[in-house]
Amino acid sequence: MVQGGARLLGELPVHGAKNSSLPILAASLLSGGETVLYNCPRLTDVDAAVEILQVLGCTVRREEDALVIDSSRAAHTEIPEKLMHEMRSSIVFLGAMLARLSRARLSFPGGCELGPRPIDLHIASLKRLGVQITEEYGCIDCRTEGRLQGTKITLSFPSVGATENILLASVLAQGETVIHNAAQEPEIVDLANYLTACGARIRDAGKSTLVVEGVERLHSAEYTVMPDRIAATTYLCGAAVTGGEILLTSAHSGDMESVLPVFEQAGCRLETEPGRIHLIGPRRLTAVKELRTMPYPGFPTDAQAPIMAMLARAEGTSVFVENIFESRYKHVGELCRMGADIHTEGKVAVVRGVEKLYGASVEATDLRGGAALVVAALAADGITRIGSVGHIDRGYEAIEDAFSVLGGSVRRIRE
Ligand code: EPZ
Repeated sequence: MVQGGARLLGELPVHGAKNSSLPILAASLLSGGETVLYNCPRLTDVDAAVEILQVLGCTVRREEDALVIDSSRAAHTEIPEKLMHEMRSSIVFLGAMLARLSRARLSFPGGCELGPRPIDLHIASLKRLGVQITEEYGCIDCRTEGRLQGTKITLSFPSVGATENILLASVLAQGETVIHNAAQEPEIVDLANYLTACGARIRDAGKSTLVVEGVERLHSAEYTVMPDRIAATTYLCGAAVTGGEILLTSAHSGDMESVLPVFEQAGCRLETEPGRIHLIGPRRLTAVKELRTMPYPGFPTDAQAPIMAMLARAEGTSVFVENIFESRYKHVGELCRMGADIHTEGKVAVVRGVEKLYGASVEATDLRGGAALVVAALAADGITRIGSVGHIDRGYEAIEDAFSVLGGSVRRIRE
């Protein structure tokens, strides 16, 4: 339940990145040793990844803000259907299971709220590394005869998940693997840094051509997960849309070079230092002419929904073009129920800023769409009830606490 109107003020730490923690948890299979993962966020997607590790035979325990994973006894090679459907990004376990256990059986990751989620790039890449893959009855059965063989792989699209699967499969392969048109997201760099800490040999992670020199084995490691750049963006949206002033600590502004200028174009004042972002929101935001989502270092698709919610009350018209996912505008209908004036046509969404948003009863449709509803509710007149908040809990640690610390009136009620 959100009572809108309060200006967000204060200081907030940003939790560890979901989209870095998940591939690193999969990667913890590879060493057959112990991984101590600091700053691992408390998210339901992380819980699902932990459950998968345990099903595969690992032990996992939480100590303060660290997760300790021991993968020495990993032996099972099947991910139960229920867990695959709980979290489609479980597909990232495929590469690690094959490199460590030479076998993996899992069901096709269910489609998700963002449209079909094909895995053709994952499958084609793993086949090039020497994996035999059969797909039947909605199941993918993969096996390798002995060690995977390094090779050259060119991705037709810089898929984050496919890049991660190739990395995880190739660090223990025989010889060199070169990935052309690799994803360059900061989470890829974080994964590569963790693997390097385990003894992997990776060059140019974060660039479009990535080189892996296979090694015989990896060893135990400790690692600290990077801050979540999309959670940071979401909190900044809350401050901007309420004309507030906040300081984010433990945020990497360097990862947000394509997002921070949007806040400035919208009329916010920003000061950044390494690890900190200070934002002052104006009385009323100004529309941003055009926002096209692109692979990193372009404007991130995950920021599209929260930024749209922020601009729903801006002066003027903003135009979004969603180039990454097929149907990532499910939150638009819910925002319109709150008085927003938004029209979508295929990839394009036209957001005509309105003077006021009004509290309403709305439903979260997906993770970032749900977070967008919280942002809009903070600036709406009256009370907004947001249902299906489980979507939000997948990627935000206690979002009600984060905004309450800043003076927002956000409560979780158990119906
Ligand atoms: C990762 O998803 C993130 N998830 C997503 O964050 C993020 O939106 C996305 O990267 C883009 O940055 C995790 O890291 C767990 P992709 P992923 O493979 O790996 C198509 C969030 O809100 N594609 O780069 O699935 C695909 O359909 C989530 O935190 C193929 O066609 O993204 C999509 O249109 C949502 N074939 C596009 O590429 C493939 O084999 C981008 O997908 C793979 C992908």
